[in-house]
Amino acid sequence: MSVGHDESAAHLGSCEIKRLSSEELAKLDMVQGMTLIHDTKIALCDELENVADCLPSNTDVLSCLSLAAKLLPVLRLAHAYEERVIFPAYEVVVAGTDYSMSVDRLRGEHISDDCFAADLTDVLLKIGHGGHVGQAETFGYMLRGFFDSLRRHVAFESEHVVPVLRNSLNSRRKLSNGSGY
Ligand SMILES: [Fe+2]
Repeated sequence: MSVGHDESAAHLGSCEIKRLSSEELAKLDMVQGMTLIHDTKIALCDELENVADCLPSNTDVLSCLSLAAKLLPVLRLAHAYEERVIFPAYEVVVAGTDYSMSVDRLRGEHISDDCFAADLTDVLLKIGHGGHVGQAETFGYMLRGFFDSLRRHVAFESEHVVPVLRNSLNSRRKLSNGSGY
């Protein structure tokens, strides 16, 4: 699944070497930062879907260990950035509109994603260390529930939050360049 922004296309050429980190986010504007976060989350979803597809006995232990190591740190970094930088800027622009309530829902989804990711990490670690997946079907449902929800979250932010931020940034740039009103 692709996020499909202009900004996404703009950094596709270096996508393979760009990793989500606080240092990387500090170099980017809000739209670029959000796009990097979305691309990273979608890549995580694809990896988790691959694990689900390989259950119960064909899972790759290294993939599971890799996912276990990065799933929570990536989500926590992404959520902290969105809640500290993205959402306050978005709330200013959409104040008084139907979208003003959506930030509360998005924050709530961050919390549930963190909790869910912690549970998934425990099982991924167990598989990665050669443990038997006792209830593979249940784990498969957990994985699919998680990445389906995360993809919906990313899709909403991509379709509703990012365009608002992009317009806001463009307006500010026009004003600062003296070509505005
Ligand atoms: Fe988010």
